Amino acid sequence: MTRFATHYGAYEIDSVPGQPQIAHCHSLFVKREHRGRGHGTALKAHQMNTLRELGYDYATCTTDGSNERQRAVLERAGWSLLQNIPNGRTGGITQLWGWVVKLAPGREAGF
Ligand SMILES: CC(C)(COP(=O)(O)OP(=O)(O)OC[C@H]1O[C@@H](n2cnc3c(N)ncnc32)[C@H](O)[C@@H]1OP(=O)(O)O)[C@@H](O)C(=O)NCCC(=O)NCCS
Repeated sequence: MTRFATHYGAYEIDSVPGQPQIAHCHSLFVKREHRGRGHGTALKAHQMNTLRELGYDYATCTTDGSNERQRAVLERAGWSLLQNIPNGRTGGITQLWGWVVKLAPGREAGF
């Protein structure tokens, strides 16, 4: 598990056990006093750049189905909703999202 942080928030990235080209992203948060001003979108862009730099092919994350802010962040960032999963613990919906790691527009492959 590796934690990445900015002054306004943080996130973590793990390689999927047995499949090191796929990352699972989790624990993304913006500090409460910084929310609602675009920092969630900025932090997701930071995370996606980290995924590129770490050479992953694909990334996943989950979010609670009621988390409208995070859903907006993921949609704006180009992630795909893969599955709505009934959560047997909470009784709610857990969403599984995925993203094919692409180079940023205008960037050439570094290796
Ligand atoms: C989810 C989170 C990261 C978003 O960060 P943020 O800084 O508030 O996000 P932004 O300011 O970039 O706004 C994200 C979107 O939510 C929308 N939004 C803002 N306030 C909202 C509200 N009260 N309800 C619904 N949507 C809202 C914004 O309009 C924006 O959408 P847009 O990009 O289409 O304009 C932040 O709220 C957070 O840390 N929450 C607690 C932890 C968490 O839920 N993490 C995600 C775990 S999967």
